[in-house]
Amino acid sequence: MRGRTRIAHLPEHAGQEVTLGGWVTHRRSKGKIAFLVVRDGTGICQLVASVKDVDEETFARMEKVTQESAVLVRGTVREDRRAPGGYEVLVRELEIVGPAEEYPISPKEHGIEFLLDHRHLWLRHRRPWAILRIRHEIVQACRDFFYDNEFVLIDSPILTPAACEGTSTLFETDYFGEKAYLSQSGQLYLEPAAMAFDRVYCFGPTFRAEKSKTRRHLTEFWMIEPEIAWAGLDEVMELAERLVSYVVERVLERRRTELEILERDVSKLESVAPPFPRLSYDEAAEILLRPENVARAKEAGAPPFEPGNDLGAMDETILGELHDRPVMIHRYPTKVKAFYMEPDPENPDRALCVDVIAPEGYGEIIGGSERIHDPELLRRRIEEHNLPEEAFRWYMDVRKFGGVPHGGFGMGIERVVAWICGTRHIRETIPYPRTINRIYP
Ligand code: 4AD
Ligand code: MG
Repeated sequence: MRGRTRIAHLPEHAGQEVTLGGWVTHRRSKGKIAFLVVRDGTGICQLVASVKDVDEETFARMEKVTQESAVLVRGTVREDRRAPGGYEVLVRELEIVGPAEEYPISPKEHGIEFLLDHRHLWLRHRRPWAILRIRHEIVQACRDFFYDNEFVLIDSPILTPAACEGTSTLFETDYFGEKAYLSQSGQLYLEPAAMAFDRVYCFGPTFRAEKSKTRRHLTEFWMIEPEIAWAGLDEVMELAERLVSYVVERVLERRRTELEILERDVSKLESVAPPFPRLSYDEAAEILLRPENVARAKEAGAPPFEPGNDLGAMDETILGELHDRPVMIHRYPTKVKAFYMEPDPENPDRALCVDVIAPEGYGEIIGGSERIHDPELLRRRIEEHNLPEEAFRWYMDVRKFGGVPHGGFGMGIERVVAWICGTRHIRETIPYPRTINRIYP
């Protein structure tokens, strides 16, 4: 609608008459005065009408309009420190554009499953509003970061002929009589692009048929993945700590209101700056095997850490709590990591890879590595992992035609949103979560 003022911009219109559109969140009347609180997606605002200033119909509508009805209002903006948002509108006319039936989400506490069943409506409420605006800031910060650092955006396909991150979590679909899979990662497509553009990144939805129910896993999540030609593991780690620090700084700078709504302890985010502590897997293993940490895992009912195995959620929590900023664990055992990772020349049982673990128990937010560039070694790895050679023929070409060391990482956006917002469960960090037991709404 033309000429509509949004609530966030009311301060610019103090003393003027404006037209506002919004949804009713509260209603109250005191004899000759009626109050409504409306929300329009940019803020909330109190509407006031006195029986002597408006026509009868407008006053009657103010008194009977139901929660979540959409209204269009004309009135004068007045500063009022006591009003939510600091401004109120003295109503002259009010029209109910979209009346609401009895609204299912009441101010009483609802269970999470009920709220997720009504996610399409729950989005209107304060908590999702704050989380998703922070998500929006994080995504924009990533895009700005890569643009400013001369990375070229290369969108990778969603329908793919082969696995990137193991065959156990593939979503399979029929592609005109052939098998295709929803992408688990854009990485394989970025590596050739790095040879064409030097520094590239992709950002898109990725899919994993995660069969377990945890608070860190979705089946559809968004990943931002940079890839750099000629980069070794150290460069990959430096890029990761710079990106994460930039993102946190942007949220602290621009999304204070949202962090306050979430009651996030921002002091925990203010210390996030390079350099992040670096621990080799073997150093991390030594820490995890200390009696106090073994006892802690046992107390929590978590499986004990076994040297040589991948880190479990509890192990990541323990390591993440040692520092006031994310910690980078590098050089995991080659056998627990993906087929494409370059072995450490000093110890081929270890891969030149890194996981970035967020503090406060949020776990792995980034996984990355240097990639194998020797064609013969890569061919062997594809075979050892029982991957179809045919589907990887094009990927091998990157090594056959001028193979150079290169590397990159993937950062799961929802994990980062969960950590920055301080939401225990990842399902609240994406507008419409997909998990093992949810594909609705
Ligand atoms: O460690 P992952 O599996 O790494 C890759 O996919 C690489 N190909 C990325 C690359 O090097 N270009 O996943 C990367 C990140 C994880 O650190 C985590 O943040 C997130 O993706 N992630 C998930 N987030 C939500 N739900 C899931 N099921 C996730 N699986 C991974
Ligand atoms: Mg990983």
